[in-house]
Amino acid sequence: MRHRNSFIYYGSLFTFLFLIAGCKLKSNGPDLDPDIESKVNTLVSEMTLAEKIGQMTQVNKGFLHSNEDIKTYFLGSLLSGGGFTPEVNEPEHWVDMVDEYQNMALQTRLKIPLIYGIDAVHGHNNVIGATIFPHNIGLGCTDNPDLVKKASEVTALEVAATGIHWTFSPCIAVPRDERWGRHYEGYSESPDLVKDLGAASIQGYQGESLADRKTVLACAKHYVGDGGVDWGSGMGGKIDRGNVTISEEEIRNLHLPGYLSALEVGVGSIMISYSSINGDKMHGSKYYITDILKDELGFNGLVVSDWAGIDEIPGDYKSDIEMAINAGLDLIMVPESYLDFINYMTELVNEEKISMDRIDDAVTRILRIKYQLGLFENPLADRSLLGTVGSLENREVARQCVRESLVLLKNENDVLPINKTGSKILVAGANADNLGHQCGGWTISWQGDSGDITTGTTIYNAILNSVSDQTNVVYSEDGTNASSADVAIAVIGEGPYAEMQGDRDDLSLSDSDIQTLTNLKNAGVPTVIVLISGRPLIVEEYLADWDGFIAAWLPGTEGQGVADVLFGDYNPTGKLSISWPRTMDQIPINIGDDEYNPLFEFGYGLNY
Ligand code: GLC
Repeated sequence: MRHRNSFIYYGSLFTFLFLIAGCKLKSNGPDLDPDIESKVNTLVSEMTLAEKIGQMTQVNKGFLHSNEDIKTYFLGSLLSGGGFTPEVNEPEHWVDMVDEYQNMALQTRLKIPLIYGIDAVHGHNNVIGATIFPHNIGLGCTDNPDLVKKASEVTALEVAATGIHWTFSPCIAVPRDERWGRHYEGYSESPDLVKDLGAASIQGYQGESLADRKTVLACAKHYVGDGGVDWGSGMGGKIDRGNVTISEEEIRNLHLPGYLSALEVGVGSIMISYSSINGDKMHGSKYYITDILKDELGFNGLVVSDWAGIDEIPGDYKSDIEMAINAGLDLIMVPESYLDFINYMTELVNEEKISMDRIDDAVTRILRIKYQLGLFENPLADRSLLGTVGSLENREVARQCVRESLVLLKNENDVLPINKTGSKILVAGANADNLGHQCGGWTISWQGDSGDITTGTTIYNAILNSVSDQTNVVYSEDGTNASSADVAIAVIGEGPYAEMQGDRDDLSLSDSDIQTLTNLKNAGVPTVIVLISGRPLIVEEYLADWDGFIAAWLPGTEGQGVADVLFGDYNPTGKLSISWPRTMDQIPINIGDDEYNPLFEFGYGLNY
């Protein structure tokens, strides 16, 4: 993997040189346009306090008491949280919904357009029929920034086609503990790889100009250190939203490089992490948000909270708001109790606990982005793009991402590539014919689901598409009736999950998968395992029985890309972007550890 293995050296060198230079990065977010700055300053000078506070308020569409509230409270932003779709989840209904909200905003005194955000984190994943890409852990294994950029370009097109302006992506977490339910949202345990792929993704989303109708605002998240938290310090005594207990220098070496490169390529927004650093909640950290991100690094885009992220700051809601805004947050993803938020904000300004300078800085950043997006000139959707959602052309890009994300970890007895014209192939495993499972979390709903949740090709159907007419493909979920097959392909692994619901302190295979493996072993048939998972699972004790082993991660809707590798239409190139543990006792395990003895090393991957 190029220079990946010496990321600690390069990461430190990059940070060291940067600190020595003491310089502000040449481009600290979108380049400033004097004409836009003039318009923003003029508009801010005309706004009332209520209009300014409204701009700093982001509401989840499902929690609006009425659409009139957009006008009444001058709301600056709405979002669709995971699964908050229009009643009919089809692209045109998304456009109608967003335009309806926008037309409300345009009825306000100053006609300031709203900005609509969504988690399009592996394609436009809330929309039925959209192209769903591999989650970031798979993209990390491609080690291909150009392809990652292309994937984000396609995603931006499909997001823009539905009238939406902003994706809360890329997640540039550096996951260090495989037990974290968000492990799959990160590209890699290597900050070097995260830096390159995160920057590429942002360039794909934002393009050469934010005003381009086929691009959207990107959001680097979650600032900073979300992937570095300790097990036991998180929600429910697990890990998500937990506490980082490493030094600031280690933070700068491991978790900050992705943000430096994000600023270099002009990312327009940054989302704050739920996690804490040495006990300080990031959502209340003036040091990390204002002193480092805004002052030292010169970030001139907007800083947005996570979903009710400020509520987790110790204290009551009013003090949460005071601490978060004074820490440097510009836009608050409330997302529900927006009347309380607006009232407390008003009180805090009137009590001079939040200064008008801070309010004006936040509103300036929000309006700057809206002007850069061209929302004042083109507030409504470009409906000519609708036909691009889920197009064959877009799906081909996703299929290439699948091909390059797969990592071949074992291939003995010439079991791979599989002969397309063989007489009988047995397909087994709970994840072989399950589109929801191969897409994972953040797909159609927040947690994802099982079965035919959207339009796509399961791995089983992809195998059927690939083989000759003479080949008999039999599906047996538990692997029984395998003895007469030339080869068995067992697609096993995890079901879908998101965030804290994926925190697991046991990454063993499920009992049903173990039963499937036992049935195949008893049949004595050559076996290829395809693992569908958001992270490495504990498989060492079974590996000897497997002739072939492919890590397929969470490939998304284009299962044909898996078949392309299975049958040799694509010679696997994927390399592990993470270290593969032998046992739970080894976790967390990362390249650079003093004792490093994984089952498969960071950067490992075979080909044909
Ligand atoms: C979630 C996630 C964040 C996401 C936001 C909006 O809780 O932490 O990644 O962008 O809420 O859905």
